[in-house]
Amino acid sequence: MKKPYLFSPSILSADFTQLGDQIKQAEEAGADWFHIDIMDGHFVPNISMGPFIVEACKRTTDLPLDVHLMIEKPEVYLEDFVNAGAGVLTVHIETCPEMDITLQNIHNLGCKAGITFKPATEVNKIKPYLNDVDLVLVMSVNPGFSGQSFMPEVVPKIRQIRNILDEINPDALIEVDGGINSKTIRQTFDQGAEIFVAASAIFNHPLGIQKGLQSLRDMLP
Ligand code: DX5
Ligand code: ZN
Repeated sequence: MKKPYLFSPSILSADFTQLGDQIKQAEEAGADWFHIDIMDGHFVPNISMGPFIVEACKRTTDLPLDVHLMIEKPEVYLEDFVNAGAGVLTVHIETCPEMDITLQNIHNLGCKAGITFKPATEVNKIKPYLNDVDLVLVMSVNPGFSGQSFMPEVVPKIRQIRNILDEINPDALIEVDGGINSKTIRQTFDQGAEIFVAASAIFNHPLGIQKGLQSLRDMLP
């Protein structure tokens, strides 16, 4: 039976001295995918990780690796990330002047393709490409850091995108990313989000990773 929703813990808040163990704990707690945030210090102010870490995750888990590219010129690095083990590559509309070609290139590499956008970007900007994606990542914080507060003003965009997808690409999934915790997750689910990214709510939960994931699951039907 198809699960009605998926959890994609973001390793950005994991303890990197114990990354393999933290991934295993999240897997045992019921993670479905792992979200890996790639930041270049240009498109976003922070620098995080590269294909090397994706490759290390691939050796640790068989779950799909959901790679969020917050980098300029993502088209230059697509093959590196697919070779490192990415199962989904999500690119920002703000960094892809030829989005149709970039999405095609991701698919040609045998990878699922996602599109995303900053909270200030209008849905109309991504609309021309919604037919060509496997997922749409709705950012509910400004990209760059974990542990930021959820931006409730993006919630209507989830329903807006779901309505468009239902017409033209009903199999595409909506993922939500940023500030997802036990207080914010339900409103995103109610508007049509199906994949939930969370870094701090899972990896920084005071009672541990298992309880962190459980606290999110408890808020969903
Ligand atoms: C933010 C990243 C998010 C981040 C989420 O730029 O895209 O994936 O890791 O962190 P939390 O869940 O702590 O908001
Ligand atoms: Zn992310």
